Amino acid sequence: MSQAIEQGLIEARAGRDLSCFDLYSIDQLSLADIDLIYDLARLFRKAKTEKLSLNKGCSLVHAFFENSTRTLASFDLSAKNLSMDTSSVSGNSSVKKGESFLDTAQTLDSYNLKAITIRSAEAGVAEMLSRHVRASVINAGDGWHEHPTQALLDGLTMLDHSKSKTLQGKTICFVGDIVHSRVFGSLVRLLKKLKATIRVAGPLTLMPAYVEKFGVTVYTNVEEALAGADIVYALRVQEERGANGFIPTLREYSKMFGISRKRLDLAAKDAILMHPGPVRRDVDVHSALVSVDEQSQILQQVENGMAVRKAVLWLLCNRMDNKVKEMTRL
Ligand code: CP
Repeated sequence: MSQAIEQGLIEARAGRDLSCFDLYSIDQLSLADIDLIYDLARLFRKAKTEKLSLNKGCSLVHAFFENSTRTLASFDLSAKNLSMDTSSVSGNSSVKKGESFLDTAQTLDSYNLKAITIRSAEAGVAEMLSRHVRASVINAGDGWHEHPTQALLDGLTMLDHSKSKTLQGKTICFVGDIVHSRVFGSLVRLLKKLKATIRVAGPLTLMPAYVEKFGVTVYTNVEEALAGADIVYALRVQEERGANGFIPTLREYSKMFGISRKRLDLAAKDAILMHPGPVRRDVDVHSALVSVDEQSQILQQVENGMAVRKAVLWLLCNRMDNKVKEMTRL
């Protein structure tokens, strides 16, 4: 069974490789790269948790300096399904004793890893480290900046729900704490590449300065923003980044911007509801809509995370030799 799945994946890959050796930003990906990831992710999804030997002999360390449930668990399970050896360092690592991110990453790199996943509260850490280690660095979320695999899994969820199998002509409406959202940071870049129309709604205090430069339309009235949207994407108020200081109270925020049944009904009839998780029930989204409503794709997003991360891990592992050549050339 697993041999047939592997053969199918190898045929679908058809010798194709990503144009990058690391993944710290959606900006690194061409349309061909995105197609390749999605071709493979759809096959990995079909294979469910079948144990495959595609990355046998490859090691991966998760360096997560911020909390995570979905990203860490799915990267780790994905790696194990691909027969990789994995280990984790966390907020309790030697960074707490004063070691720099760079020294930590170079220490881990000495174990001849093929990949390092990194989550940090600081923007730019993954990109900086990618220039100094041989392993492929995968950004699992850096501060307010980017979270590329989250955007890729969201893009797959959106494409699966588009009858035309494209996002061109589709309207995605983001609602919530845009300024602190690395999910928005990556997803807006991906959706622009896929030619979607993007609206953003939320308190102006939670809107990034110059957000219009991404080619999005800004609304302060959530009802106007939601009207006729094909996809409603709610974003969490990020208390850990001080978002509560930008709104009067969570209760008032929920009243003004929380996605309720009534608000969701303003979107297109067959609209879907998405959220990257973790959800703050009754703040970002009304509890009754979160996991049981048929419009909610929140758990499907989670499932797609495994498929996309397997594709990314398979594509990036074993690129180390080429990456080192490229680094030496620079
Ligand atoms: N969406 C997301 O990144 O979730 P975690 O913080 O649980 O990984």
